[in-house]
Amino acid sequence: MGGLARRVSYIKAFQHRSNMEVPTLFVDAGNLFTDDRFAGDHLPAEVMTKNQWVVKGYSDFHQDVANISFNDLPYIAELFKKDGYEKRLQEYPFIDRLISANLEPADDTRRAPQPYLIREVTLSRTAPGKKLRIAFVGLTEGKPTSPNQHESLYAGFRINDVFETAKRVIPEAKKKADMVVVLAYMSQDMAQRLASENPDIDTLIVARQMSLMNDPEHFGRATITYAFNQTKYLGELRYYLRSDSTIENQINRYVALDADLPDDPQASEIVTAAHNDFTNVQKASMDANPAPAAQPASQDSPFVGASTCMNCHATQYAVWEKSGHAHAMATLERKSQQFDNECVRCHVVGFNKGGFQSLISTPQLANVQCEACHGPGREHVAAPAKGFGFMATPTGCVQCHTLTNSPDFNFATYWPKIKH
Ligand code: HEC
Ligand code: HEC
Ligand code: HEC
Ligand code: HEC
Repeated sequence: MGGLARRVSYIKAFQHRSNMEVPTLFVDAGNLFTDDRFAGDHLPAEVMTKNQWVVKGYSDFHQDVANISFNDLPYIAELFKKDGYEKRLQEYPFIDRLISANLEPADDTRRAPQPYLIREVTLSRTAPGKKLRIAFVGLTEGKPTSPNQHESLYAGFRINDVFETAKRVIPEAKKKADMVVVLAYMSQDMAQRLASENPDIDTLIVARQMSLMNDPEHFGRATITYAFNQTKYLGELRYYLRSDSTIENQINRYVALDADLPDDPQASEIVTAAHNDFTNVQKASMDANPAPAAQPASQDSPFVGASTCMNCHATQYAVWEKSGHAHAMATLERKSQQFDNECVRCHVVGFNKGGFQSLISTPQLANVQCEACHGPGREHVAAPAKGFGFMATPTGCVQCHTLTNSPDFNFATYWPKIKH
């Protein structure tokens, strides 16, 4: 849901500024759902809830089309179950606009997504009244199992070869439309090959955990543009048409969805409701299922928590206690994201390393405590001595102070604020 409120506010402002004269379409190149902890063929309840809110957000704030990536399949497997499909569709009209040309259900309990969708827009500036049909085709690479291997069966769907599928489907889509746009979840190499092999493609919008903010690339007739992998930017691709409504030029830019953009109040309401719902479901599922068996219970954890360190390092503790690190969980709580593991990992001690598991089972390891930097301290506490806890700086800091989460980080100015 990240960024929804700002995205909606930008889109509304854009439509207002252009006097509603510029037809706009909203598309997503894939990876909109989380497959977090997909195991034993099911997603945990809180992940289901999170994804359901994405579907609601995309339904309420009209999304024209979205590509299904392999990451999305665990949730798609639920959405596309034939059982109950019509009812889901009535509630969330967006489901029908999820496309893929190379995904196929492995059995007949699920529907196949539509390979492509045609959207019609009415021009008002270049050729007033003229209708333009745009075909959107969805393609995804397989689920990578190692750098060069891809799984072709995942979450009940077969992932067919991208290039064979494209040769079959793209000319068909072209026959029914004036323009062909491929939404592609794949590497840059694959996208370039796809563009070179398929002269009918006008535009390729490519996504896959990329942080590229390039100018568009040109391969044959096709223009390739990349979607930034964070919801902090909205990609905008503008088409400039000739008077015969063929494409003269395509120009992209990335709109920063930052604090300069007000949150849209309507979308904010949905985001807040989503967070609260997610938090409640997570709480309930934590209560029902306190500590995952795979992780050591807290008394066996190599981490002891800051209150134990305090016994012998009261001076350092006193400094730390006043720092932001000591209140990092409260920061997430203010956002109702204290159960969101995508956030939690940097705001606690030893996440996924035998330390913090959840606020229910390991509250004593919440916040960025001593051992988040000095390493697990149980052995040191049992036999205190010099030589423990060396931390490489700034390398250790930037594990958490990444470019996206701490753009202003600079060791020389940050360290003095927490020096102890
Ligand atoms: C029972 C007392 C005790 C506890 C509890 C304790 N320490 Fe220590 N710690 C010591 C002693 C003693 C030294 C060695 C100090 C010296 O000789 O200058 C030390 C040294 C250190 C050093 C510096 C190592 C060096 O080479 O200079 C760090 C860092 C440290 N402790 C971190 C921690 C952390 C983090 C915790 C909690 C996980 C912790 N300590 C808990 C007693 C303790
Ligand atoms: C385990 C992740 C993690 C590591 C490692 C980490 N930080 Fe942080 N840091 C955070 C988080 C999370 C916050 C935000 C805390 C808040 O306000 O909620 C933060 C906030 C800060 C702040 C601003 C808050 C304040 O008290 O002024 C400073 C300064 C800072 N960190 C410095 C450092 C330095 C220097 C290092 C390396 C020696 C470091 N951090 C290592 C996660 C980390
Ligand atoms: C890669 C580590 C990392 C992850 C993941 C992370 N954070 Fe943080 N967060 C930080 C650090 C580091 C800071 C301190 C930034 C600074 O002061 O420079 C911070 C600061 C914050 C702050 C206070 C500063 C501000 O921008 O208002 C909030 C709120 C916050 N994080 C929320 C979140 C939420 C919500 C998520 C999950 C969507 C999240 N964080 C995920 C590392 C992380
Ligand atoms: C954000 C990371 C971070 C956190 C959190 C943190 N420290 Fe440190 N600490 C450092 C760094 C960096 C140094 C200096 C370099 C080193 O010794 O590794 C240091 C130094 C120390 C030293 C050695 C001081 C000296 O005089 O040589 C002790 C003892 C210590 N920390 C204890 C603690 C205790 C106890 C806590 C929790 C109450 C804590 N630290 C929290 C990063 C951290």
